[in-house]
Amino acid sequence: MEVVETSAQLAAKIKDFKASGKTIGFVPTMGALHQGHLSLVKEAGRLCDVVVVSVFVNPTQFNNPDDLDRYPRDIEKDMALLRQTACELLFVPSVNEVYPEPDTRVFDFGSIDKVMEGQFRPGHFIGVAQVVSRLFDIVRPHKAFFGAKDFQQIAVVREMVRQLNMSVQVVDCPIIREEDGLAMSSRNLLLNDEQRKKAPLIARSLFDSCNFALANGVKETRQMVMDAINASNQLEVEYFEIVDGNTLQPVMLWDDSDYIVGCIAVYAGEIRLIDNVVYKNSMS
Ligand code: PAJ
Repeated sequence: MEVVETSAQLAAKIKDFKASGKTIGFVPTMGALHQGHLSLVKEAGRLCDVVVVSVFVNPTQFNNPDDLDRYPRDIEKDMALLRQTACELLFVPSVNEVYPEPDTRVFDFGSIDKVMEGQFRPGHFIGVAQVVSRLFDIVRPHKAFFGAKDFQQIAVVREMVRQLNMSVQVVDCPIIREEDGLAMSSRNLLLNDEQRKKAPLIARSLFDSCNFALANGVKETRQMVMDAINASNQLEVEYFEIVDGNTLQPVMLWDDSDYIVGCIAVYAGEIRLIDNVVYKNSMS
C-alpha cells in the first residue's frame, strides 16, 4: 500500500493504472476506521482491480464545530488496518490540498436533502457533496463504495453524480454491526461506558419494530420506536422517520411504497448516532 498526500501524485498513479486497463474502486472515509469501512474496501477489492481509499476529515460537512474538534483521528492505526486489505493507494490529503480555495459551490438536491439529516444538520450535505465531488474529480474512479448506514448520504451522492453528469457508479454496501447490534461508527469511540451499554437499544428497537410493523400502522410503529428509545435515560431521539427509500419523503401507509426505510438519529449525551432499518424492499 502506498500513501499519497497530494492530488497531483494520486492522479498520476491512477492514470498509470488506467492506462494498463485496470478498473479503479474508491472508498472515501474520514478515518478512525472500523470493520464497517473495511467491508467497503473488501467489496471494492472484489469488484475492481485497484482500490483507492481516502482518509480526510472534511471540515465543510460539520455543522457543529465541537463535533469536528472531537472527531476521532488515528492515522497510524488506520494505515495498519488498511495494510491488511486490498487497499493499494491511500490518499491522506491536507485541507489545503482538497480545498486550494474555499469551496463556495452550493448544491440543491431537491426534496432529498431537506429532510432528516438535511433538516437537523443544515449545510451538512452541501459539505458532503463538495468533498465527494472534489475527491471523485481527483480519483476518477469507475466505482465508489458507500455504506447503507448513511442511508441519506447515498441518495445525495447518487443525485450529485446525476446532476454533475459524472461517470462513476455508486455501489451501496450493507450496515456492519457490533455483536450487540449497534451499527459500527467512528463516533462509538466517544461514548462513555454507560452510553455504550445503552446504545444497542437503538438497533434493537429498530429490529423489534419490523415485527411490530406487521400488525400495526406506520404512525404507531414510529411512535413505538421513539418511545422505546426515549425510555432510556441515556438516549434521546432527535428524529425517526419512516420514508420512501428513493424519495426519502415520509410515508403514511405501508402500501404507499414498495421500498420503505426507517431512519433514526439519537443523542447519547453529546454524541449523535444514526441508524436505519429496511421495512420493505420489493427489489431485494
Ligand atoms: P465515514 O463516516 O468515515 O464513512 C465512510 C464510509 O463508511 C461511508 O460510506 C459510510 O456509510 C461507511 N460506513 C460507516 N459505518 C459503516 C457501517 N457500520 N457499516 C457499513 N458502512 C459504514 O461518510 C463519511 O465518512 C463522509 O461523509 C464521506 C463520505 C467520507 C465524505 O466526507
